[in-house]
Amino acid sequence: MNSTRFWTKLGLYGALITAWIATMGSLYFSEVTGFTPCTLCWYQRILMYPLAGLITLGILRRDHHLPHLVLPFSLLGQGFSVYHFLLQKTPYFGSPSSCGIGVTCSTVWIDWFGIVTIPLLAMVGFMAITTGMLLVIATDTRAAGNVGSYQWPRWPAPLIVLVAIGLYLTGAARAGNIQVSLPEVVIPFVSELPILGLSSDPTATPDPTATPTSLENGASLYSQACASCHGANGIGAEGLGTALANSPQITNLTESEMFAIIRDGRAADAPNNRTGIAMPPSGGQPDLTDEQIVDIILYIQSLQ
Ligand code: HEC
Repeated sequence: MNSTRFWTKLGLYGALITAWIATMGSLYFSEVTGFTPCTLCWYQRILMYPLAGLITLGILRRDHHLPHLVLPFSLLGQGFSVYHFLLQKTPYFGSPSSCGIGVTCSTVWIDWFGIVTIPLLAMVGFMAITTGMLLVIATDTRAAGNVGSYQWPRWPAPLIVLVAIGLYLTGAARAGNIQVSLPEVVIPFVSELPILGLSSDPTATPDPTATPTSLENGASLYSQACASCHGANGIGAEGLGTALANSPQITNLTESEMFAIIRDGRAADAPNNRTGIAMPPSGGQPDLTDEQIVDIILYIQSLQ
């Protein structure tokens, strides 16, 4: 009997802890670290955030239907995060080209150990919640129709919620950077969609030192990796990325300084950050080679 109680509690509080860590962690990434969520991130947030509240209330109300309310959310969320992860890490779901202005879903903000990206964290979270709920279904004596059975303890729920919120606030205070930035309404510049073959770009005057192929290569890499934030032809996009065309910032940078910025990105709280918005390392495309970045630099220089 006591061992079934153990598994029920593990399932319940494990799922609760996971939902709160995922919610607070995702808010930390967007509000403190300054990573801009893409569309697929938003779908996963829409499915994860309610679970934090739902599981808390389900435990407080000792509602033994809880797993059946949670599973549709966690399974669907799992589907989205698996798809999102494969999109970032495998070539099987189309090229990482930008479909307009806005952060593309293949943009990689974190890449710990070359494998741990934000969708992977979400996937682990949704899976842990699903497993926890299945564990509750399998071991909860009340759910098995055993009337008069084990009552779930309530007290861990508020404690877990407080600890999660406390951790978030401590982290944010240490980073000294709680940005309350409302999402910008980004108007897609339909006429400016990045169809950037150099020939179709009348504003670009080729750099005489650049060979045409590397410039063209740079232009097409730019449209895949950078245009989603910096706009077609480097015109910039409000709330996403600065203008790179005709920019005094760019003309003041040497090629190697520019290389370093592109490779390392720029955290929202970096001392030299000018906008308070973060840029991911390599523009969120960790696979870009040094040569490809040099081609992109040639292209950006041609826009001055
Ligand atoms: C997810 C959005 C995003 C993507 C993708 C992105 N950038 Fe940025 N980038 C930014 C932001 C935001 C800044 C401004 C940071 C600041 O305020 O200092 C920036 C700054 C820069 C700067 C410094 C110039 C300046 O205005 O301060 C360069 C150069 C640059 N980006 C190049 C690139 C290149 C090349 C790519 C593609 C490989 C790229 N970026 C992809 C968001 C992005």
